[in-house]
Amino acid sequence: MAHPQKHPQQARPPLVSTSASHTARLRLIDPGQPPSKSPEHLALQAGLLAPAAHVDPKYLYDALGSTLFSAITLLPEYYPTRCEAEILAEQSQAIAARTGPVRTLIDLGAGDCAKAEKLLPALQPQCYMPVDISTDYLRQAVQRLTRSHPDLEIVPIEQDFSGGLRLPAFTAPQDRLVFFPGSSIGNLDRQRALALLRSMAQLGAQALIGVDRIKPRDILEQAYDDALHLTAAFNLNLLRHVNQILQSNFDARDWEHLARYDAAKQRVEMHLRAVREVQVQWPGERRQFQPDETIHTESSYKYSTEDFQALLHEAGFSEVQHWSDARDWFTVYHARV
Ligand code: AVJ
Repeated sequence: MAHPQKHPQQARPPLVSTSASHTARLRLIDPGQPPSKSPEHLALQAGLLAPAAHVDPKYLYDALGSTLFSAITLLPEYYPTRCEAEILAEQSQAIAARTGPVRTLIDLGAGDCAKAEKLLPALQPQCYMPVDISTDYLRQAVQRLTRSHPDLEIVPIEQDFSGGLRLPAFTAPQDRLVFFPGSSIGNLDRQRALALLRSMAQLGAQALIGVDRIKPRDILEQAYDDALHLTAAFNLNLLRHVNQILQSNFDARDWEHLARYDAAKQRVEMHLRAVREVQVQWPGERRQFQPDETIHTESSYKYSTEDFQALLHEAGFSEVQHWSDARDWFTVYHARV
């Protein structure tokens, strides 16, 4: 879903513009502003006020959060990116043979566009449509890609598709391949993953989806709690992002990073745990956290190939094919409607 209710003071310049945003600074010198009560703002607030506090993982991805995630993908412990890169590199011809000519490549959660860029030689799309919520980051990536691929039509879309997917329909669905790499689908619970897969099936006739697999606990937990504490910084940075949005006063020094695998739920959970009693306030609201109380910030679901194939079929896809890395830690699925 886009940000239709976004408060005008928070609106960013259009994606094609390269000028820095000055609107955020204007907000600071305008104390007369009533607090924004957009549906997004209310949902964020409701999550923080819930007995078991939670924040949507999309708030991990401001400019710094996206940069930290990018650094995480270089860590020895964070295997998913490398496993997926191995699959996409080794199977690019098999994937291209499966897809046939692709006119439009839609890249959901494109980030730095690096994964799609590697697919371009094999798929040779005419149009590339990266979709991401972190606009500043996407803008840089698009500028770089425009220079390296002058013949490619690039249509960047600023969109938060966590609540649904709506894109401009300027090519027929038959010509579109929806690329959803990185096991980002793992951030959604089964029901939401199914809903997103259904909207992907409407958007394009084909999908290429990277999904992390179930594996031993120690491997999973180290991937989400690395020795350099980059994942801790990534998780804690969410509080700064929340502060910007709510005008709240979270102090990252009051919280510690927690990551654990729940084998029954087949998901790694990230939490922020209060290291002492914490009082947080923002316009109109306040919340007290007891020591050890947590804010749930992310679930990262892991799927067996049987599980995920079943989900794809349930979403309306058929003709599913999949490829895995040498260790069977990660799988890329191609599916046709
Ligand atoms: C980008 C959502 C796939 O869940 O593995 C990395 C995000 N969280 N380390 C994941 C993440 C902690 C990542 N996804």
